[in-house]
Amino acid sequence: MSTQAQAVRLPRLLIGTPDQGQMSLREHLAIHDEIPTGHGRRHKRRDAVGLVESIERAGLCGRGGAAFPSAVKMRAVAKERRRGIVVANGAEGEPASLKDKLLLEALPHLVLDGGSLAVAAVGASELIVCIPRSAKTARHSLTQALGERERERYDSVPVRVELVPDRYLAGQESALVSHLNGGPGVPTLTPPMPFERGVQKRPTLINNVETLAHIALIARYGPEWFRELGTPAQPGSALLTLSGAIEYPGVYEIEHGAPLGDLIEAAGGSTSEIKALLLGGYSGTWLPGMLASTLSLSTEQLAPYGAVLGPGIVMALSEEACGVAETAQVTRWLSEETAGQCGPCVHGLNTIATAIEELQAGTAATGTEQRIARWASMVQRRGACAHPDGTVRFVASALSVFAEEFAEHARHGPCAACARPSELPLPSHPHLAVAA
Ligand SMILES: Cc1cc2nc3c(=O)[nH]c(=O)nc-3n(C[C@H](O)[C@H](O)[C@H](O)COP(=O)(O)O)c2cc1C
Ligand code: SF4
Repeated sequence: MSTQAQAVRLPRLLIGTPDQGQMSLREHLAIHDEIPTGHGRRHKRRDAVGLVESIERAGLCGRGGAAFPSAVKMRAVAKERRRGIVVANGAEGEPASLKDKLLLEALPHLVLDGGSLAVAAVGASELIVCIPRSAKTARHSLTQALGERERERYDSVPVRVELVPDRYLAGQESALVSHLNGGPGVPTLTPPMPFERGVQKRPTLINNVETLAHIALIARYGPEWFRELGTPAQPGSALLTLSGAIEYPGVYEIEHGAPLGDLIEAAGGSTSEIKALLLGGYSGTWLPGMLASTLSLSTEQLAPYGAVLGPGIVMALSEEACGVAETAQVTRWLSEETAGQCGPCVHGLNTIATAIEELQAGTAATGTEQRIARWASMVQRRGACAHPDGTVRFVASALSVFAEEFAEHARHGPCAACARPSELPLPSHPHLAVAA
């Protein structure tokens, strides 16, 4: 075990992250040692079973949004008769997230180690790394890293990089499977689940790239080391993209359960009073800004507020921003990101987005907010994927947190702040830059 890594509590994944460019294989190994599980040689079945057990004991849960226990998914793929495929999900469709991009651009060997280990652990035959079409730097970084691994004969697992559309839904797992099978790349009805029949009709393990990076470290340092940080229910560290009214927005590694106030302080503090916090991204939950100093970042501690970290996103909306305008803009964008195949999603989200725009404009009929709540209940769990559920969660929390502002707009129409440029990033006008 690396004494350097033992001594350092945080950062774990981000240790040694270069300011520019990517960490080379040599630098990566100098920091993390070789993986002590037969990596680079033919993996024995025994090693693979050992790794899944370690991941289970570590209590690792997926970092792609749903926080599903990683070992359960690995076992499901491993027990299928056909040889599986592992997909590293780096699609990162959430506009307010940058963590996967940072990992792929700066620390590609961590992701490739984790993916390669997952291939061995579930008895799969190849690793497919999915990245957005526009992610040129990540693509370059992966190509360089794969070249180094081949030259150094470090890894024998076949790896291919696949480009996926720059769409919010591209990273939903059944959409990824559809894309990799030559289909339209939109979510499909499940079952069969990808672990039963996914890419090339083979059992497919789909993991977020951060999840794989954690697997690379658990294989080296063990489950007890992993559990030294975090909470009993949610052990370990997590990458989090912090943005909005923050002095130094960017990607930070936190311990699960860490106070949000400490994180904001470490990021240079807020640049204005915080009106509201958006946790979990655009399928997440708005919370009142006054919670910034008291909230702790773990599933258990966020549960009473109905919030989750999802793919690790915290946005701080400034006091100067208009909560109604920001909500209207994101809801419209989410409605346009529908894959257009489930009626309740296509029509329901569009109707809700229009109603919010009418509330903002002051042209909505009396009782519109109640109607939005009714429409929301009609689209929930009615799609092939969770997109409508996420969108109505975002909208319902906005109606509650910005209740006074919504009432004001309904009476008087747009406010002065409605004309300000939006603070929430959308692909057409991103505000974020990677910072570790
Ligand atoms: C609308 C939607 C979009 C998603 N986008 C992503 C994404 O961009 N990246 C990702 O890793 N997971 C995304 N997911 C979650 C994946 O479906 C899947 O749960 C995840 O990749 C599994 O990896 P994990 O177990 O390591 O979290 C999305 C889910 C939904 C419903
Ligand atoms: S619920 Fe919406 S986004 Fe999901 S598959 Fe159906 S139409 Fe597409």
